[in-house]
Amino acid sequence: MGTSSLTGIEACIFDAYGTLFDISSVARGAEDALGDRWLALSELWRTKQLQYSWIRGLAGHHADFWQVTGDALDFAMATQGLHDKVLRDRLMRLYLSISAYPEVPAVLRRLKAEGIRLAILSNGTPAMLDAAVANAGLDGLFDAVLSVEEAGVYKPHPAVYKLATKHFRIEPAQGCFLSSNGWDAYSAKAFGYRVLWCNRFGQAPERIPTAPDREIADLVALPDLICR
Ligand code: LAC
Repeated sequence: MGTSSLTGIEACIFDAYGTLFDISSVARGAEDALGDRWLALSELWRTKQLQYSWIRGLAGHHADFWQVTGDALDFAMATQGLHDKVLRDRLMRLYLSISAYPEVPAVLRRLKAEGIRLAILSNGTPAMLDAAVANAGLDGLFDAVLSVEEAGVYKPHPAVYKLATKHFRIEPAQGCFLSSNGWDAYSAKAFGYRVLWCNRFGQAPERIPTAPDREIADLVALPDLICR
């Protein structure tokens, strides 16, 4: 991976869950009920959520991310021996008020002030994403909040990555894609975006096409790496 700035960037396109929004904040919000099980539940919930998105995609059984997220929660709760409908509904509601990572608002404001167009491109449903954006106080910062529901299939299908190039009428290389999810970052690079892998969790490089342009630990450095 290189170390230079990215030139000719017209738009920054962000993954939502794990990149702008802290997935662990959801189950942590019910720590009073979950006790020290909250982290294991959170991790299994996320793992299963992604597995179900890929399985549904391969099998041609698309259902939206609200359904997939609920199904994954049901699996994770059952695995932990939790059979509590009230807690289940509370955790799903908490998903709608997921926290943004602390640096996100200032980074987005600076990019916007510099004339970079901003989008979310996420597996989330429009309702899930609108709620997360509003709750985090990010209203008005994005030029587009794009959901895979427009494509009817989940990441990493190329039809999803195409939603943002089509929306902005740009070539893939004029878009800088940001994701903390390695598989998403690599797949966006394979599509043709310039990609910064926001490797928040210090994960090992993936063994799939194609390595991102750069790795950053969080989004703080992003504005200085982008040049129009
Ligand atoms: C998303 C998932 C990958 O927001 O986190 O698209």
